[in-house]
Formats: sequence, C-alpha cells, structure tokens
Amino acid sequence: MDMLESIVTITPEKRPLLNLFPHARGKRSHITCELKCANECDEPIANTSDNSYFRDVASSNFSRRNMLTGMAAASAGLVLATAAGTSPAEALADAVEEGKKKPGLKPGFKPNRLEFAPIDPVEATVDAVSVPEGYDWNAIIRWGDPLFADSPKFDVNNQTAEAQAMQFGYNCDYLDILICNSASTKGLLICNHEYTNEKIMFAPDFDSEEAKKIAIASHGMTVVELERDKKGQPWKYIQGAPKNRRITPATEFKFTGPAAGSDLLKTKAEPTGRTVLGTLNNCAGSTTPWGTILSGEENFNQYFVANESEEVERYGIPTKEKGRKWWTVDPRFDARIEGNENEINRFGWVVEVDPSDPESTPLKHTAMGRFKHEAAAVQLTRDGRAAAYSGDDGRFEYVYKFVSRKHMRHGKSAAAKKHNMALLSDGDLYVAKFVGDSPADQITGDGELPKDCRFDGRGYWLPLVVGRRSMVSGMSVDEVLVNTRLAADKMGATKMDRPEDVQPNPHDGRVYIACTNNTKRAKDDYPGVDEANPRRINREGHVVEIIEDRNDASSMGFRWNLLLVCGEPDTAGTYFGGWEGEVSPISCPDNVAFDSVGTLWVSTDGQPKTLKLNDALHKVPTRGKNRGQVQQFLAVPREAETCGPVIHDREDTVYVAVQHPGERGKWGEQTSYFPDYTTPNEMNDDKWGGPRPSVIQVGRFEGRNAKKD
Ligand code: FEO
Ligand code: CA
Ligand code: CA
Repeated sequence: MDMLESIVTITPEKRPLLNLFPHARGKRSHITCELKCANECDEPIANTSDNSYFRDVASSNFSRRNMLTGMAAASAGLVLATAAGTSPAEALADAVEEGKKKPGLKPGFKPNRLEFAPIDPVEATVDAVSVPEGYDWNAIIRWGDPLFADSPKFDVNNQTAEAQAMQFGYNCDYLDILICNSASTKGLLICNHEYTNEKIMFAPDFDSEEAKKIAIASHGMTVVELERDKKGQPWKYIQGAPKNRRITPATEFKFTGPAAGSDLLKTKAEPTGRTVLGTLNNCAGSTTPWGTILSGEENFNQYFVANESEEVERYGIPTKEKGRKWWTVDPRFDARIEGNENEINRFGWVVEVDPSDPESTPLKHTAMGRFKHEAAAVQLTRDGRAAAYSGDDGRFEYVYKFVSRKHMRHGKSAAAKKHNMALLSDGDLYVAKFVGDSPADQITGDGELPKDCRFDGRGYWLPLVVGRRSMVSGMSVDEVLVNTRLAADKMGATKMDRPEDVQPNPHDGRVYIACTNNTKRAKDDYPGVDEANPRRINREGHVVEIIEDRNDASSMGFRWNLLLVCGEPDTAGTYFGGWEGEVSPISCPDNVAFDSVGTLWVSTDGQPKTLKLNDALHKVPTRGKNRGQVQQFLAVPREAETCGPVIHDREDTVYVAVQHPGERGKWGEQTSYFPDYTTPNEMNDDKWGGPRPSVIQVGRFEGRNAKKD
C-alpha cells in the first residue's frame, strides 16, 4: 500500500474532543518514559534546592543592586547590561519581513522557497509519514543498515554486538546533512543514537546478555557519506565510504578544559582522568561555525547504579538496581565498585566530533559544565568568540551559556580547525535568570496574558566560572564544572519547564528555547509559576525567545518573551506570538531549527499523549506580520518523535530523524512497520516487518509541478 494512501485526513472539526488529562504523568508514553529517561517522572524532582527566583524582588522592582547582592562577590566587576531597545539589525530584519524594505542588505532575508500547504493534524493511531501535497518521502538510512564494506547485512534475528557496531544505531535524534561539493551531489549525514527499546528490537527468546551488548553498541553516533544525481534529488548513503564512522560507548574520547585530569574524573581503570570510553544518551546537537558536530549527553544517569550522595541525588542517578542493568556485561556501569565511583562523572558533557576525520579522537568539553545536556549550539559574539547555549532537560532545571576566551579563526586550514576545536575548552560559564516585568499577581497559572499582553521581561547570565575562576562560593572550578547543577542552585538560576533544545537563529542572533513541558509546575508543593514558566501543570510546553543585549552573544543580560504557549489553539491559555489567524495545534516543543531565511521550525515529542495526534514538524515565522503562525509540515508515524529537523528550503527538502516509531509494541505485536511496511516481524531481503528508527528525506522529488494521484 502506498503510504500516502494510508494517511487519514482529519479536519479540526472531526478531531476527537480532547481529554482533560487528569493524569499527572509527563508528556510521553509510559514506554518512552521508561526507556528514554528511566521514568524520571516517577522519581523525586532532582532539583530540590532552595533556590528563590527572586520573583518577589524582580517582578516589579528588580534592581541592579539586588542583582549584585545575589551574585558571588567575585562577579561584582561584571557589568550588567541595562534594558536595550531594538538593535539596528533587528529593526532592519523586522522592516524586511514586513515588506517595508527590500531584502538584500542582510543575507538570509530572501523569500523562503519551500512552499507548502499545511497538512491537517494526524491522529495518533496512524502508522504513516504524512507530508504536504506534492512532496514525497523515503528513508535514507535505517536502524541496522550496514556502514562499512565488511559490515554484516541487517538480520534482526541473528544480530550481534559486533555487527551492530558496524551498522546504523538505534533511535536516531540529532541530525545534520552537510553538502560537501559545489555540485551539491556529495554529502555527509551525522546523527545521534539516543537509547534503545529491547522489547521491540529482540524476540523474547533472544539471549538477554547479548541483547545488552547489542543495545550498548546501538548507542552513540553515526557519520556516513551520501551521494545523489543532482541537487534537489533524494540522497543515498554510501556503504564503505571513507568518512563513514560509528561512535559507540567503546570509542575513546578525550576530556578538555579545566576539569580534565581532575580527581573527580579519575577511576581505577583510567587514573589520569583525561580520557573516557564512549558517549551515552546523545540527544540533540548542532553543527559549529567551524564545521564540527556538538552532541549533548542527556539522560546518562539511567545507565548507572551508584552509592548515595548529594551529587548522585542531584543528578538522579539510581541507587537501587533497576532499568537496563548494563553492569552485568560491563562492570564500569556499577559506580558502587571501589575505584569506579567517578565513572558517573565522565558522562553528562557536550561532545565535539570532527565528521571530516574518521580517525580523530572526539572531545568532551568540561568547560561547558556537566548536566543533562539536551544539546549545545554556538553563535559568534560580535568580536568573534564562540557563545554556546545549552538546556538541561529536567523539570525545574536551567539554561546555560558558555563564552569562549579565544576568537574563532576563519579558514579551512588544519591550524584553524585545531584552534577552533579548542575554543570550547577555555571560557566562561553562565546560567540564566529570567525576571518577569509584570506583577506576580498577574501570572495566574492558567496561561492568561498579563496586562501588558506579553509574558516577557529581562534576563541575566549569572556567572559560574569567569576568567578561569570559580564564581560560586565554596566550590572550586572543577567542582563547579563537574557538579554544575549544584553550582547553579547556589547562584539562584531560574527553574525552567524542562528546557530542551536551545538554538540561536543564525540570521538575527535571537535564541529560542523549547521548554517541552512540566506537569509538576505549581502542583502541590512544587515551585510555582513565574512569568517565564507561567502555566500550572504545564503539559503542552512553550517556546522562549531571547534577545541578547546589543544583539551580542557575549552580553550579560537579555530581553526575553514567550513566542509560543503551546496547545490546542482553541483552548484558553495558549499564545501564538500574537498571531490571531489559523494555526496548527502544537504541543511539547522539543527541537528547534532554522531555514535559509531564518524562519523557525519546531519539532515535537509528546503530541500523541497530549493532543492524541502524531508528533509533528511545524514552521513558525518569528518576524513580521506572520509571527507565531504555526503551520504543520509533516507528521511522523505512530508513537514516534520528530527529531533533528534539517531544512534545506532552497531545495524544497526537509530531513528528520524518526525516533522510537512503534515504541509501545512488542515482538510479535508491533504497532509500527515504519519505514519498510512489510510482513509483520519477517525479514524480506533487507526489509523487516517491525519499526526501524530512520532518517527520512522529504522533498519534491518528482518535480515542483508534479501532481499526485
Ligand atoms: Fe532527549 Fe530532552 O530529549
Ligand atoms: Ca509581561
Ligand atoms: Ca530531545
């Protein structure tokens, strides 16, 4: 059956009435909760710090003097920016978008080429990729596809760890497609593999210890070369190409920065504290201006068991044996073992990979702090240093910014690359404080806008490490960097509603934070609402827009506002950037990306639970009269999450990683057959009748004017 034929078209009128969701569980299905973050929702909130928001001070009469009092004394030399008006660059961008000026002065404000009629939302039972009229989709690479000349062909019934380490991993997340030649016929695909779901990967009688080894080898990252006939046509991956690479939990990484070599990173097996095997739970990421890949180690805690301590509790590391129990096949995951206590400190970092050199040793940058990094994304400061933004994806966790000490060097020489790959190992680390400008009593918790009609205010980057010195009383630099959550607690950072992807718009420098949800906000004794997290029991999430003072990523202060307060558009307490026309429903924003003209694209993780709709990719203008007009471009198959959007609008092409399709199924009772859609549970040639997380490409592959039957 043609997949497009199987799409059920649902108009908003036909959509079933939404439940009122009396349950308090998070956004995701039970299976995702269990596998992705080890049922974090069932665990105590990791952030129990008595960290006042200073909202009482801040909402109406926040003062510079109060701010300085709240900081470590050492930060007193830092200049706090005052409220800034719209910068010339922003004013120009607004004028261009509103048609008052012709584009051309600034790159990137040409018309967006990728035109589409928004698709209707798709019911959560539909096992199909849904794309706009005139577009096709296909999979570039699927779980198990062989990467190297000698990689075994995927055989789900006879899988081995050795084979898996030479094949595309499971549950693809961050994605980029880099164009490598001027004809645009050679490319490079880079992808993260976040976690595994053994229940649908293996038959019930599959050897459980071998399954653990395969699961371990399914984590990490993939780099693979692509080719195609011409621009705008679909890519194929090249098995055995020279740059192909699998990074797994067995790949050697090097620590960089102030905590490299720290006692906190030493183990009996690796007593220097300068190297570590592997990367875990790689979630989102970014491509740096110098062409390398950053990847966030997110829910690393779930792979370990450890003895109780303040640090272990703050990072949510289990102290009882549960979950994947990988320590039965590799004892380093048991941090209770004498000499192995610090293995847990060797994960939770931002990693940097040079995809052009498969022999290069990937890096873990300690200067950027250790937490559940969703991702990290760089933009250059006005004077050419690297500023990297990163969210800590946990309920009531924080948003961070790192600013390098050195400037980026331009050019493609080996010396420039070496210099730039050291940028993220030396610099200053900050954590965000969001201060609302409306009185606290106007933030009612139900999403009603305050009297100034915006959830907005000022923000401040609170220093954690500046000038290679700790700004946190009682903590050394390496303690701040290894136990960054505890350091940020002490500084009074703002507890956010699960900040996931944080990405700067390369066209205007504004920064967007996907706060995916937080069902504990203002519930019982949990922290209450504030203007940056204004909804109680926030199931649908929101998107924060940051405008750095002077439009400079090195600024110590910023303005912020909520671009989107997500949900079913007709329900109270939603907000779409001031746009009052039709919008697509959107819930649980997770990844953000930008097209060639700086339009925001937002992918979701959790709509099946909150809206009974498949997860989606939405286009959202942030400028001009259409600001906030959410339009749905695609939907992924049932029980999948939309990850890693890449928008090549000049080619009418969009790429996404389809993660955890059919995650609620089990062997013999699969709920998704994406992307092969063949006989249940059977292998036919290289196709398997079960869900295979895959990277897909969506484009007008039959031409812009091709008509679908
Ligand atoms: Fe891996 Fe926060 O998503
Ligand atoms: Ca306000
Ligand atoms: Ca994510």
